[in-house]
Parts: sequence; structure tokens; C-alpha cells
Amino acid sequence: MKLCLATNNTHKIEELQSLLGEKFQLQTLNEIGCFDDIPETSDTFDGNSLQKAMYIWERFQLNCLADDSGLEVDALDGEPGVFSARYAGTPVAGEHGNHENNMQKLLKNLEGIENRSAQFRCVITLITNGIAHHFEGIIRGKIIHQKQGSKGFGYDPLFIPDGYDRTFAEMNIEEKNPISHRGLAVAKMIEFLKQA
Ligand code: IMP
Repeated sequence: MKLCLATNNTHKIEELQSLLGEKFQLQTLNEIGCFDDIPETSDTFDGNSLQKAMYIWERFQLNCLADDSGLEVDALDGEPGVFSARYAGTPVAGEHGNHENNMQKLLKNLEGIENRSAQFRCVITLITNGIAHHFEGIIRGKIIHQKQGSKGFGYDPLFIPDGYDRTFAEMNIEEKNPISHRGLAVAKMIEFLKQA
């Protein structure tokens, strides 16, 4: 089954393709002839992933999926949330957020705050034959006081998942994938696709 993934982020495409296996062939936006900057204007993860997937379905009538994810910090009322990529300001063209500046802003906003609980959340919207299905993955953890590790991306060096003593940035992709918010959402989607 062919599925278009509403992103040109090659990191995401490779990660998802390896999780989905050979039964599903992911197509990129460029491969289907879409060169648009797909709007992402909702204030929820569900809304953004639906908006991106719907954009493809309405123009191309292709089975497709889109995801939206971010970090939600309890003591900051869920911030940075949908603004995770652009927490410290709008990224320059071609960049998906300035991870270093975002982490520094987060540490600053958490200065003096004891409750460091947080979660990563991912919502995937899959559209098959015009019908949208949502799959959510959440990983709880805490934000540490200074960066640890150099793997991964985004807020990984500051996030230790519950039950672990290392950050996501200190884990290999093989270790992070099965427990991550994205991995959990993908697992739910695969289960659904197997039964479809
Ligand atoms: P998006 O879903 O690609 O739009 O990601 C939004 C932003 O959330 C990223 O740019 C990161 O700042 C953050 N984020 C999402 N998933 C992760 C993750 O697995 N590790 C670290 N940061 C993440």
C-alpha cells in the first residue's frame, strides 16, 4: 500500500519507513508533485496533523498521513506545545527550529521551578479513502537542569523519560523509537493498518 507522508523532512521519512516495513511504501511530497508549503495554523496537535493530511487528500486524493508533535511541560501549562519548533522565535528558511535557542529558553523559563514533569506528545492523522483516523503517543518524563548527550534532535538532551536515568539524546534510535511518543503513535497506526 502506498502512503504519502505530508513532510519533506527526510529524517522523519526514514524513521517512519523503517517502522512501517516493506508492506507500505511511503511517498514524499515531492514524489507526488506537491511543492507547497503546507499550512499548519491550528493550536492543537490534532488540528495541525489533520490540516496537513487533509491538504494532500483534497488536492491529490491519495491515501496519506501527517504528524505533529512537541513537548508539553506541566509547570508551564503545557508550553511549548504546538510551538515547540519555534519556541524561541520563527526559524530561518530551511531550518526546522533553532534547537539550541529553544532549549535555552526552556531552561530559563523553568529557573527556580521544582516541578520538572513534562511529556512529549505526537498525533498522527492517517487518511484512507477520505476518512481520517487519529493515533496518539505520549511519553512522560522530566526536564533536567543542563543538557546531556548529543544524539537525537530538538529537546532530546533535556528530557529523561520516566523509568530511565539517561536523556533521549543519550539513547540510540533503536532504544528511543519503541518508547518515544512518535514510536507509540506509529505502533497504534500499524496495528490499525494490519486490521484494515
Ligand atoms: P514536528 O512534529 O516535526 O513539527 O516537531 C515539533 C518540534 O517538537 C520539534 O522541532 C522539536 O522541537 C519538538 N520535538 C518533537 N519530537 C521530538 C523528539 O522526539 N525529541 C525532541 N524534540 C522533539
